[in-house]
Amino acid sequence: MIIGIPKEIKEQEHRVALLPSGTYQLAKRHQVLVETGAGVDIGMSDQDYQNAGAEIVQRHEDIFARADLVAKVKEPLPSEFPLLREGQVLFTYLHLAANRELTQALLDSKVTGIAYESVEVNRRLPLLEPMSEIAGRMSVIVGGYYLAKHCGGKGVLLGGVPGVLPGKVVILGGGTAGVNAARMAVGLGADVTILEVDLERMRFLDITMTASTLYSSEANLLDLLSQTDLLIGAVLVPGAKAPKLITRAMLKLMKPGSVFVDIAIDQGGCAETSRATTHTHPVFEKEGVVHYCVANMPGAYARTATQALTNATFPYLETMADLGLDEALKRRPALLTGINVWNGHLTNKEVASAHDLPWQPFQPASPV
Ligand SMILES: NC(=O)c1ccc[n+]([C@@H]2O[C@H](COP(=O)([O-])OP(=O)(O)OC[C@H]3O[C@@H](n4cnc5c(N)ncnc54)[C@H](O)[C@@H]3O)[C@@H](O)[C@H]2O)c1
Repeated sequence: MIIGIPKEIKEQEHRVALLPSGTYQLAKRHQVLVETGAGVDIGMSDQDYQNAGAEIVQRHEDIFARADLVAKVKEPLPSEFPLLREGQVLFTYLHLAANRELTQALLDSKVTGIAYESVEVNRRLPLLEPMSEIAGRMSVIVGGYYLAKHCGGKGVLLGGVPGVLPGKVVILGGGTAGVNAARMAVGLGADVTILEVDLERMRFLDITMTASTLYSSEANLLDLLSQTDLLIGAVLVPGAKAPKLITRAMLKLMKPGSVFVDIAIDQGGCAETSRATTHTHPVFEKEGVVHYCVANMPGAYARTATQALTNATFPYLETMADLGLDEALKRRPALLTGINVWNGHLTNKEVASAHDLPWQPFQPASPV
């Protein structure tokens, strides 16, 4: 099989879909095309890929023209739409429910679009989890930074020092992002409370972490906010917008210079005052509280993010390369949930209902 790895063209996207280590594995049995400079932003040179067995391709278009399977990180942009073609497999983050134009372009191209974010195993999304892990860990780093006086914060050091109490971190949601935030905050020596609604999850957190857990209710939150230095939003209700747990009035209870990191901003954010920001202008202030609402947090640590992402995606990529899609679906049935578009049809119910379009299940050549 010919596997193509284009350089990402989305602004501020530095990740790449395959590392030289993965290239080495695939190139034993397949032809791997890597666009020149694809890994340069994360310290992987063309020479590294070449040494691993890749052919370096100069033109972006040629990757799409030659590859049977294109692996990317972000969704194709309009300039890439005409490059996609029938029978080709595209393996990447797609987020089609939020993008009608892209959905139509993929349908028109008849490409088979497998979305990282919808590959599902036992009700978990293993190709999204690494990004939540990074965002969760990062939320405490950035939150602690913006608590500094010169960043608009109240001047509290999260870990405290001998004789001074540590800062108070409150985390909304104890899922993947929340637990990773908690690990970092506990590691710094902060006083950490996780608010959850899932009792089983709280039992797990209670056994595995030194953070406190508290049932997530408005009353409990109201009690905590006046003492909170760093508030982290990490809630998710699958398939829905993030619940608005924090109103403007509730924010007023926090002391000026407190910091709110809304990781859930990619699902609309969990505060009334949240709006998406970028790495270039990450923060704004509302009701005296510094808001950090960057929608693609892992982009900041692109090297770690690429390593974490490819650890999760590579086994699927390798199986598709070795067996072809139909056989790969038998070996890794989770791939089936990832197929969003196929041969001009929408195969994902949620995407179809988001755009009010018809859908039909994917029909493999032989039963999965
Ligand atoms: N900004 C970014 O760059 C970035 C990166 C990765 C993930 N995210 C987002 O972070 C959010 C969390 O992702 P995740 O992978 O940790 O999800 P997850 O499903 O693992 O965890 C979400 C948790 O929220 C809990 N929850 C739901 N409603 C709640 C409520 N009312 N109060 C308290 N807890 C509640 C759930 O029980 C669950 O444990 C998602 O919106 C995800 O898209 C953002």
